[in-house]
Amino acid sequence: MSKQYDVAVIGAGAAGMMCAAVAGQRGKSVVLLDHATRLAEKIRISGGGRCNFTNINAGPQNFLSENPHFCKSALSRYTPQDFLGLIRKHHIAWHEKHRGQLFCDDSSEQIIQLLRAECIAGDVSWRMPCKIASLRKEGERFVIATDGGDVVARNVVVATGGLSIPKIGATDLGYRIAKQFDLQIVEPRPGLVPLTFDGPSWQPFTPLAGISLEVDVSTGTGKGKGAKRGYFREDLLFTHRGLSGPAILQISSYWTPGTPIMLDLLPEMDVAEELIAAKTTHKKQLGNILAQWMPSRLADGLLVANGFAPDARLPDMADAKLRKLGDAINRWAIVPTGTEGYKKAEVTLGGVDTRELSQQSMMANKVPGLYFIGETVDVTGWLGGYNFQWAWASGYAAGSNV
Ligand code: FDA
Repeated sequence: MSKQYDVAVIGAGAAGMMCAAVAGQRGKSVVLLDHATRLAEKIRISGGGRCNFTNINAGPQNFLSENPHFCKSALSRYTPQDFLGLIRKHHIAWHEKHRGQLFCDDSSEQIIQLLRAECIAGDVSWRMPCKIASLRKEGERFVIATDGGDVVARNVVVATGGLSIPKIGATDLGYRIAKQFDLQIVEPRPGLVPLTFDGPSWQPFTPLAGISLEVDVSTGTGKGKGAKRGYFREDLLFTHRGLSGPAILQISSYWTPGTPIMLDLLPEMDVAEELIAAKTTHKKQLGNILAQWMPSRLADGLLVANGFAPDARLPDMADAKLRKLGDAINRWAIVPTGTEGYKKAEVTLGGVDTRELSQQSMMANKVPGLYFIGETVDVTGWLGGYNFQWAWASGYAAGSNV
């Protein structure tokens, strides 16, 4: 007869370990199951190896969901300061990098060890690596069939993450379990991902690969309730296949295929007005003037892409032509053909529909004892430590209620 646990957590990533530790430290018997051979690989590779473990300004406004109010309760009950408390308790040195983003000074491995130690303090059992064949409900309990035998628990928490980076073990198990229990799924799609512009339309921009500059980027669809609009001022990076950098990763989560993104390559100035004014004071080449404000390779590339000769002279230009060039720089509307997909996406948008879950406990309303947390749920943060904050907060919510 298998031992019956109070809680089985499937997925020993950020959310799963937080949940297991909290439940274990409340005196619940907890088992963590994961199919990976290395613990929490996504935390290890996060933040360039230093894990951007939270954002000090994290609030509901930094998350996307079909149901934007859902995340409020969990986020308010486990805040960035709460996680910082754990960081201090484990003597991890950290720093703020940019706009509230907190990173380890040394290594993301420290966050994994923190969570492991908290699980040990909660006397959590581990089954890893462990292949999960099926999950079924038998009366008041769940039976998880695994390659190491059945695991029986009164509660199951699904924390298997999203579909991003399949090569380190991402699977759709969370969505399959949700469907098995008749829970709705918001169609998953890659988020925080570079955008691609295949074909001849991108040809003029391929020589710009490697150039980076701060831009304004926006996109938006719909009006009123349900409208999804994004605006960010961040760095843009030209690549061989398209656009990347924080500006593009951020806007990609708001982008809908077939619609344009708007770029302002010089957000602090009205380029047309500046060029027209410069006509009277400069006898220079247009390219040299633009190169005062942006990398010269970009200035040359933009001139060519917009039909100007590389050595075009400013005084010879009609104002109307300069206005067109100004528009191309301040209001560049461009329609991506796609994204780099799950192999490059930092997160997965969509997931288990939050209308199926309790916002206090993360339990499925129609399946008592079954919980979903972390990235498996349709709550996705911006770039900058928000996704880990959601993992901690949703893990804490389930761990405290299970
Ligand atoms: P997570 O993916 O962490 O864990 C899921 C676990 O489930 C894994 O251990 C996996 O092995 C297991 N699993 C999956 N399928 C299974 C199955 N079938 N059977 C058993 N186990 C299974 N966020 C942030 O806030 N700051 C940052 O710095 C970064 N950096 C970053 C870099 C890169 C390259 C990526 C890809 C992502 C980030 N993120 C991030 C996002 C962040 O890593 C992510 O949102 C969280 O890890 C999500 O936590 P979860 O616990 O939900 O899933």
